[in-house]
Amino acid sequence: MERARRMVGDAERIVVLTGAGVSAESGVPTFRGAGGLWKSRRPEELATPGAFARDPQLVWEWYASRRAFVSDCAPNEAHFALARLALGHGGTTLVTQNVDGLHHRAAAAVAGEDGDPAQAYPLEVHGALHRDLCSRCGRRTPGVSVVDATSMESLPRCEECEGMLRPDVVWFGEALDPEVIGAAFEAARRADLCLVVGTSAVVYPAASVPEITLQAGGAIVEVNPESTPLTSLAALSLKGPAGELVPGIVPEA
Ligand code: OAD
Repeated sequence: MERARRMVGDAERIVVLTGAGVSAESGVPTFRGAGGLWKSRRPEELATPGAFARDPQLVWEWYASRRAFVSDCAPNEAHFALARLALGHGGTTLVTQNVDGLHHRAAAAVAGEDGDPAQAYPLEVHGALHRDLCSRCGRRTPGVSVVDATSMESLPRCEECEGMLRPDVVWFGEALDPEVIGAAFEAARRADLCLVVGTSAVVYPAASVPEITLQAGGAIVEVNPESTPLTSLAALSLKGPAGELVPGIVPEA
């Protein structure tokens, strides 16, 4: 822990990559572990463009329930500590694979009413659950909080073109927003430290972020109760839950 704290404190530029594990202690299920979302659901039935074309009601039902579920969850100590890090250390870029919006909520809470949380907003490489995307014109809008998926007619529609809205998340088989993942790669290239928190590090291109820092001469510090493909590449691997470990390695504000 002491060494990790020093590495974080000494780094000029830090890129942080988070995954579902950072939100586990907030009660948001992960994807691949025991009880993970992809253990009980088949992604191709719910999280693909084909699934949405086939049965938009079913897909919206699932995303509406996830939206409601996540709204009732709160950021945990790891989200708060990472927000403190990003707001207190100007050279920090947060990159998340999560769509739950908990980093944003932690940033707003840490910045306070008079502060500017923007520096602690993550690059959301897999999109955002609480945002809608028009499947026809591509317009992005804040997501309606209550989606009525009981009939095709009640599904949300674009105010501009009447096209069907969908959640603005990246589905299997879809490309990531090149600007967002490009900014994440650039931050990874410039970073002397990549802090990787709560990801199985198997989904590309997001999993390239720590690899890019490593190739550019930086180091990886990983926080995860389990081993991942990154563990053997990391300068330090801290085994345990993010909410307990991350606050201890982030310098006090
Ligand atoms: P996974 O479910 O694949 O991995 C979660 C990781 O979090 C595992 O390595 C766990 O060991 C770890 N973990 C569990 N509890 C933790 C805790 N309390 N503290 C720290 N770590 C903990 O989730 P991701 O790696 O985020 O993509 O998955 C990547 C992508 O796969 C997701 O963004 C999603 C999914 O399909 C899309 O939806 C496009």
